[in-house]
Amino acid sequence: MLLHLSDLHFGTEKKPCLDAIRLFCQQNSIEAVVVSGDLTQRARFSQFLACKQFLQSLNLPYLVVPGNHDIPLYHVWKRIFYPFTFYEGFFGPTEQILATENFYLIGLNSIRRRHHTKGEISLAQIERMNKVLKKAPKDALKLVVVHQPFYTPSKAHGWKDCPKQAKIALERWADMGLFGLLHGHLHHTGMYNLTQLFGLKTVQPIWDIHAGTATSWRLRKHQPNSFNTISERGEVIHYYFHDQDNMFYPLTNAELKTLHSL
Ligand SMILES: [Fe+2]
Repeated sequence: MLLHLSDLHFGTEKKPCLDAIRLFCQQNSIEAVVVSGDLTQRARFSQFLACKQFLQSLNLPYLVVPGNHDIPLYHVWKRIFYPFTFYEGFFGPTEQILATENFYLIGLNSIRRRHHTKGEISLAQIERMNKVLKKAPKDALKLVVVHQPFYTPSKAHGWKDCPKQAKIALERWADMGLFGLLHGHLHHTGMYNLTQLFGLKTVQPIWDIHAGTATSWRLRKHQPNSFNTISERGEVIHYYFHDQDNMFYPLTNAELKTLHSL
């Protein structure tokens, strides 16, 4: 099973959520952890350090990608010339691959110093990903991890932060056996069929899987802290945090429907 966390926003983290995630990892058989960006609130050294210490404390292989909060916002000089210095210092290159027994996880960096929140991917990245997907093991569940979603229901957020090259990318990757994309950014839980939404020429659904913020008190529209699990067969379960007893619980279908209507 894969644990999909997002938007940890260290600097605004809630200790009870961190503790609950550690406990969840101890009590469940988890193969790897993914964090789909926004590891920190303001890309500070101390925030990256705290994030790294937390991820190491889980004692599991993990893959992270940067979010828009992981490059400096106010320090213009650093933002222009050294946007990823702290990120790379703690976590290495911004695009990495993690292969486990059942999963093939590919990190894609959608963060650009000239944008505040909008995601962007280049044609070169799309082609590179294409080559990686071609070589990926056939029997592993293949997932691309990228901070900004490729689709959002307009009533919740609109399309303004989605990479505008999303359709080109999906058309290119449609026949590569990709199971889905893991995102954060909106602090909103959801799952959408990109094959249907973009009219892709493939029978297999490609899923856009959104995780909320797992640990930050910066919650959007009353959505609780949350994370996802994905089984090796592709079953996705959304969990959310109960403040009453400081635990994450799986969402029932009725609860999921209510959250989507917020
Ligand atoms: Fe973000």
